[in-house]
Amino acid sequence: MTMETPRYQVLEEALKQSIQSGRWHSGERLPSIRVLCQRYGLSKITVQHALQRLEAQGLVEARERSGFFITPSRRQFESPKQASRIDPPQVVSVSQVFQDIMTRSAAFDLLPNPHGAEPPPGITQLNRCIGRALRRQKGSFQYYDEPAGDGELRHQLALRSARRGWNADADDFCITSGCQQALFLALMAACQSGDVVAVEAPGFYGVLQLIEQLQLKVVEIPASPQTGMDISALEKTLESWDVKACVVSPSFATPGGAIMPPDARQRLLELADRHELAVIEDDIYAESGWLGVPDTLKAIDTSDRVIHCSSFSKVLSRDLRMGWVSGGRWHSKIRQLKLTSQLASSRFLQEGVAEFITEGGYTAFLRRYRQSLRLQRDQLLELLGNWPVPLRATTPRGGLTLWVELPEEIDTLRLYSRTLAEGIVITPGSLFSVSGRFGNCLRISYAHPWTADRTAALERLPELIA
Ligand SMILES: Cc1ncc(COP(=O)(O)O)c(C=O)c1O
Repeated sequence: MTMETPRYQVLEEALKQSIQSGRWHSGERLPSIRVLCQRYGLSKITVQHALQRLEAQGLVEARERSGFFITPSRRQFESPKQASRIDPPQVVSVSQVFQDIMTRSAAFDLLPNPHGAEPPPGITQLNRCIGRALRRQKGSFQYYDEPAGDGELRHQLALRSARRGWNADADDFCITSGCQQALFLALMAACQSGDVVAVEAPGFYGVLQLIEQLQLKVVEIPASPQTGMDISALEKTLESWDVKACVVSPSFATPGGAIMPPDARQRLLELADRHELAVIEDDIYAESGWLGVPDTLKAIDTSDRVIHCSSFSKVLSRDLRMGWVSGGRWHSKIRQLKLTSQLASSRFLQEGVAEFITEGGYTAFLRRYRQSLRLQRDQLLELLGNWPVPLRATTPRGGLTLWVELPEEIDTLRLYSRTLAEGIVITPGSLFSVSGRFGNCLRISYAHPWTADRTAALERLPELIA
């Protein structure tokens, strides 16, 4: 440290040394910000800055209204292996298992029970906003909303985008029925039947279903469980085949929560320019990040090639069925397709959500929800640590799920039928690819609290595997 070392950095180093020397135990609470201010003669902002930097390094964790804690030591799993093979483009046939899981409302729960839990206070506030919007409705029930959707809601989306490096305005957005419809419109606008679309492997099965429906072909690009789509593999693919679009989730990709680093994002957009690609960014999990929300690809999109797709489904409510798309150079075509396929979205729902955001309810809700996700992820990692089966797993910093790799000989599709007989629904790995890979993998969600029933279901899985 020199004379010019900033004061937050002096504190950061002092605390780091104390943590590393074992002065505090794993999970122990640090002295309060007030005490640290007094002890080191620093302002509150300086202390908070140092603590936030330690949090970003994973050394401490902030817990709402309780202060900062030493990050609990948890079992470290090795990361699942990255696929390496690139198969030629192929037509898609999505497994019936996907239909079956959706029919059971079970994509994100081992024990689906839509009427199971009391809604958190944020959802009650959202419902009140929607109720008020419904009561305000006068003659509007006789009219369709404009195709792009409610102006105030789009304005709020634009304001939120600015925090993620993207200066959008309301006209850049079109409201959709969830992210799935946004992806559908994006693929329809950018591709024609027979075109090839690059996707991550493992990747989102909903996109595979869209590709099948639109009679496109897929080429699967190996994705790292930590850093997402392998851009060198994409480059090789683009040199071999004519690819029209690439669907990618740079921020907390499903199934394992990978985050694409900035240089890979930059390379992706350079490749897109060189090969005239549409880049369809599935950004649905971005807001779930508890150590920070990564920028969107739109922040570095200088040639309007990124079609940004997202929704409120993963962080607020899946039942709202409310999403959005910002289509870059394809935007007016997308708006036309929305009009053709849906005419308009529900006005009172949009107004209610816009009011919820404007009142600050959404931001407060997100803050709490991210903390519960982090806790639920930690609990899941701890429970998995007790499994008597060797496994590899991701340790995401956002998203709702872990990607778990089991020994080669385990077939999670067969396991699916066995667990179903006991009322437990798992998401088998083979769903995340079209080429028979990941058969020994599982996606496990931590979107719900680990109640006794869910914990028992999770503990039952290794017995069924055995
Ligand atoms: C990566 C990803 N994209 C899109 C969707 C669809 O989202 P929505 O419910 O908003 O249609 C999902 C839902 O599981 C998803 O996991």
